[in-house]
Amino acid sequence: MHPFYDLTGKVALVTGGGGDIGGASAMALARAGADVIIVDIRPEPGAERAAAVRALGRKSLVLIGNCADDAVVRDLADKAIAAFGHVDILVNVAGGGDPRWLWELERPDFDKIVANNLGSAWSWAHSLAPHMQAQGWGRIINTASISAKHGGGPPATVSKSAYAAAKAGVLGLTKGLAKELSPSITVNAVCPGLIHARGTKWITEGPEVAEILKTIPKGRVGQPDDVAAAVLFFASPGSDWITGESMDVNGGQYID
Ligand SMILES: NC(=O)c1ccc[n+]([C@@H]2O[C@H](COP(=O)([O-])OP(=O)(O)OC[C@H]3O[C@@H](n4cnc5c(N)ncnc54)[C@H](O)[C@@H]3O)[C@@H](O)[C@H]2O)c1
Repeated sequence: MHPFYDLTGKVALVTGGGGDIGGASAMALARAGADVIIVDIRPEPGAERAAAVRALGRKSLVLIGNCADDAVVRDLADKAIAAFGHVDILVNVAGGGDPRWLWELERPDFDKIVANNLGSAWSWAHSLAPHMQAQGWGRIINTASISAKHGGGPPATVSKSAYAAAKAGVLGLTKGLAKELSPSITVNAVCPGLIHARGTKWITEGPEVAEILKTIPKGRVGQPDDVAAAVLFFASPGSDWITGESMDVNGGQYID
């Protein structure tokens, strides 16, 4: 393995690790040599992913809880540190879209979307960054979205303004943390476009996909591994001088 990508001896914690993008990211990190802690609100897929990590010869642990709840995150972070002694790489993937329009939401719904996508990333960084700073090395990778940049919306999509706002917040958090946590920790974000996943199958396998593909220069929807490759890059020793960045993983659908 090229030393740029060698994560031997590192411990990664992936929130939303039971899902498609989180799961692919967990496996990519494990293949690069990291032990991987899986955090998810759903026990079953989390356990399956942890078993897959162990099958690669790495250590794994499943932690179940709601990352939108700050007290839960603090408790899970303590458990992670107690079990492994250190967490070197935090990958914030937990979150998800919401297809409802502005007038279908009330303020508590908006707050929930923000807590799920943005508050969760803040709580995890707040809980684990002090440990990373104490050891002098760390990586934080946040999951934003193409919606953070183009606002979401039609054609068929799970993303509208509340989600776009939450994910745009993830980009601001990424830049701010990059400055606050330097030099020991790098903080970067991935911005996936349309990825084939359990929550997007109705689009990627639906009747509107042909129209959507006309807007994607690469001519296909993304796969979870397309995002995992970017996550692995930001987690790697080789990306040490890159912080506060966001990487578009969207097949060229939106370029800035
Ligand atoms: N699939 C896409 O097209 C796409 C595009 C852009 C961004 N994203 C973002 O990527 C991330 C992963 O998406 P995915 O498509 O793999 O979805 P997914 O539903 O397969 O994975 C999300 C995982 O996070 C878990 N989760 C959600 N909220 C949680 C919480 N509060 N606490 C703990 N676990 C929680 C879910 O149980 C699930 O396992 C999300 O943040 C999503 O917004 C996805």
